[in-house]
Amino acid sequence: MSLIQDAARVRENAHAPYSGFKVGAAIRSVEGHVHLGCNVENVAYPEGTCAEAGAIAAMIAAGDRRIAEVAVIADCPAPVPPCGGCRQKLAEFADADVVVTLATMAGATLTTTVGALLPGAFDAGFMVNAAKGAS
Ligand code: THU
Repeated sequence: MSLIQDAARVRENAHAPYSGFKVGAAIRSVEGHVHLGCNVENVAYPEGTCAEAGAIAAMIAAGDRRIAEVAVIADCPAPVPPCGGCRQKLAEFADADVVVTLATMAGATLTTTVGALLPGAFDAGFMVNAAKGAS
């Protein structure tokens, strides 16, 4: 089964009663496992979580640490662009050249990379003074 098919399968479990917009995400880890996530909305709207965040959480909970490949799928006119927060989350656990395939249920795909989705990502390398309490 392809990573897009994995994402489509978990999308069926999405809890999106408020937006009606179901999303599925599948991550293949460097360690060689597939981790799945779907969006889970909450009636307190900002408390909802994206499919990508769910897949990352599943990866970390399973004990894997780095992303090798990502697929995201939704039922929309064009491949779904991950939100800004998810771009930052992906950049935390993936190298810039990691491939991200964005897909629609109708079969369209857009292949990009974590680095193209978030050029100039913030990372811990900028925080050299953090432990010193610099303001
Ligand atoms: N959503 C995702 O899960 N991933 C994306 O890449 C884009 C948006 C979700 C969040 C919310 O539950 C719904 O789609 C509408 O924004």
